[in-house]
Amino acid sequence: AAPLSFPAAADSDFSQPSQRDPFFQALQKVQTQLGQKVQPWIAGQYQATPQAIPSLNPANPEQVVGEIGLTSPEQVEEALAAAQACFPLWKRTPVSVRAGILRRVAEQIADQRAELAAWMVLEVGKPIPQADGEISEAIDFCRYYAQQMETLERGQERHVPGETNRYHYQPRGLAVVIAPWNFPLSIACGMTVAALVTGNCVLLKPAEQSSVIAAKLAGFILTALSEAGIPAGVFQFLPGVGEAIGPLLVKDPRVHLIAFTGSQAVGCQILAQAAQLAPGQQHIKRVIAEMGGKNAIIVDESADLDQAVKGVINSAFGYSGQKCSACSRVILLEPIHDLFLGRLIEATQSLNIGDPAHPSTQVGPVIDGEAQARLQQAIQSAQSYAHLELSLPVPERGYFVGPTLFSQVDPQSDLAQRELFGPVLAILRVPNFSTALEMANATPYALTGGLYSRTPSHIEQARQDFAVGNLYINRDITGALVERQPFGGFKLSGVGSKAGGPDYLLQFLEPRTLTENI
Ligand code: SER
Repeated sequence: AAPLSFPAAADSDFSQPSQRDPFFQALQKVQTQLGQKVQPWIAGQYQATPQAIPSLNPANPEQVVGEIGLTSPEQVEEALAAAQACFPLWKRTPVSVRAGILRRVAEQIADQRAELAAWMVLEVGKPIPQADGEISEAIDFCRYYAQQMETLERGQERHVPGETNRYHYQPRGLAVVIAPWNFPLSIACGMTVAALVTGNCVLLKPAEQSSVIAAKLAGFILTALSEAGIPAGVFQFLPGVGEAIGPLLVKDPRVHLIAFTGSQAVGCQILAQAAQLAPGQQHIKRVIAEMGGKNAIIVDESADLDQAVKGVINSAFGYSGQKCSACSRVILLEPIHDLFLGRLIEATQSLNIGDPAHPSTQVGPVIDGEAQARLQQAIQSAQSYAHLELSLPVPERGYFVGPTLFSQVDPQSDLAQRELFGPVLAILRVPNFSTALEMANATPYALTGGLYSRTPSHIEQARQDFAVGNLYINRDITGALVERQPFGGFKLSGVGSKAGGPDYLLQFLEPRTLTENI
């Protein structure tokens, strides 16, 4: 097996007090910095905004984590003009310098691991160990894409007598990055540094719910650019409400590429808007859209049920089910249905739900009041057609939704078809393995999927027919690692090649062939 092409960051070992304590010290420190202002960075400076909104701690919404300045339409225009002005210089900047900037960003993230995790706990309600894993992923994206770009830069040469041929890549131009709140550091970082290292000028629009963390990332990028002597206009940071400034960015004729991670509805809107030619536009925009999932795990009659219960729980309730990779359907074969369900209920009951700052918390809040109300409503209405097995009680304060299990779920129902993005798990029963696979594939999505089985023929059938971008056998279906498990789906789960994989950067580049008759 080939080794990784870059040194992967190690997660913290929370059994070691020396590695654990800095996180709790950081939480205390960060508590003294709450309410800080997040401002857009445009044309080389931080700018005041006419309006601001608070970013709240979802576990304690009375706590204002930051005041998010909302980039105005005029400021968006200024940012686009500044990015365009910087492109010729950035395009010519050697790849070695661009890759060095990414490695410097990685270094700063690694240096501030504990504080960044603390901000994630407070701003998006992610329990500490899960925040820690995300920080490793952000570091890995920087180091991997730096290394990948250095490889791509070499291009290819094919010479024949009398003729030289060179195949190489050039940047596209202006890249708009529209980032989600659920991996507020790693996904924002991955998309942004991929666009930068390939020589595109970047306009980053973070999710409004996680703009404090995104502002930390922006700070690292600006430091790295300035240390390398690169004009700061190469990168613009544009906090704001998606509906307000997203379309201005996506529709602008100066933009060449949009990298988006988020819901399927918004992804499809972006694809439609980006396809419209604006007056004077002389290029087709490239859209990379990583969207939703309705991911299933199949458990067959030969599975190790202890392993399967643990894997389903981690995959369904990790970060309260708010991962596009999360498991929201379990498909059980008839012979183990009752046994597995009984064990799943017991294991779910043992989960610790509460303050994500607490070391023993496994399930924290959902992101905001809107998500909480939407999930409560979905749980309420599903009770009219499926059997509610369990819904765990939650703290009164904060935007909590308890892990919830439904059995006897109709495979065509909302519960089995619609991405809910929360800790709600639909349990489906099937008579045989072929039906299990058919059912797993019977949604519009194709992101992650899992199989727990010790039957070689089932494993082989799943390898061939389980229609997902990332298939996991006998393990959790979340937590893809950069380069080891390039991540992304197809069908309505997204367009574009996999994040953290060998083809990802190609999307940010235009290939060129140069032939010279000599
Ligand atoms: N890459 C993440 C995972 O695998 C989801 O975005 O869980």
